[in-house]
Amino acid sequence: MGEGDEEPGFIQLEFEELPADEMLSRARDFYEQMDERRTTRHFSNREVPRELIELAIKTASTAPSGAHLQPWTFVAISNPEVKAQIREAAEAEERKTYSERMPEAWAEVLRPLGTDHVKEHLSDAPWIVVVFRQSKRQRDSGEWGPTYYAQESCGIAAGLFIAAIHNMGLTTLTHTPSPMGFLRDILNRPEHEHAMLVMPVGYPDEGAKVPNLNRKNLEDVSDFVHF
Ligand SMILES: Cc1cc2nc3c(=O)[nH]c(=O)nc-3n(C[C@H](O)[C@H](O)[C@H](O)COP(=O)(O)O)c2cc1C
Repeated sequence: MGEGDEEPGFIQLEFEELPADEMLSRARDFYEQMDERRTTRHFSNREVPRELIELAIKTASTAPSGAHLQPWTFVAISNPEVKAQIREAAEAEERKTYSERMPEAWAEVLRPLGTDHVKEHLSDAPWIVVVFRQSKRQRDSGEWGPTYYAQESCGIAAGLFIAAIHNMGLTTLTHTPSPMGFLRDILNRPEHEHAMLVMPVGYPDEGAKVPNLNRKNLEDVSDFVHF
């Protein structure tokens, strides 16, 4: 399309083709950087400026989403009393999960991670960011309508959030206290918002440990179909 040919409501895509060698070196660098990301459960209480959290949320919010509804709310908490409330409620649920509700098939895969119902990271980390999925949206008419593929959209946004945090030199833990209905009450969110992930963000504690895990090889996670 030539200049001035844009359809109403459309703008020109900004796209700059990169030289092939630069594509490859960027792809390798990004992979190597992301491969260094690890989930630690040991956070320092060192402060982190709010602007960094805002930038991570803005990055997350660039995610593609079903029908561009961006059906997410990121609630960022630095208030120590609210963090303590979240820790107490999460530990109460997790205590029941670990002692009564967890089937052996689940316990078996958690054992190498060394997790239990104690969640120090929820009070140690300077920030907790809770991702809420919106199951409904308000239409222009004022009526409520559904959102589409909200689960997938929020998962992608959370992935970008995690990548942004890693890229800025901080660490986060993807935590799913189960069940997590208490977060809506503590954080005063409306009924159509459903907590999905609780992500403490901060610096790792001195001497922070991580489980000694391997990642699957390319062959184990992919299949290429050539015609
Ligand atoms: C959807 C999801 C839920 C998770 N839930 C928890 C959790 O509740 N508690 C926890 O300690 N880690 C949780 N994790 C972190 C994983 O255990 C961790 O990502 C995995 O062991 C791989 O380690 P890595 O992130 O260092 O590669 C979760 C991760 C994902 C993606």
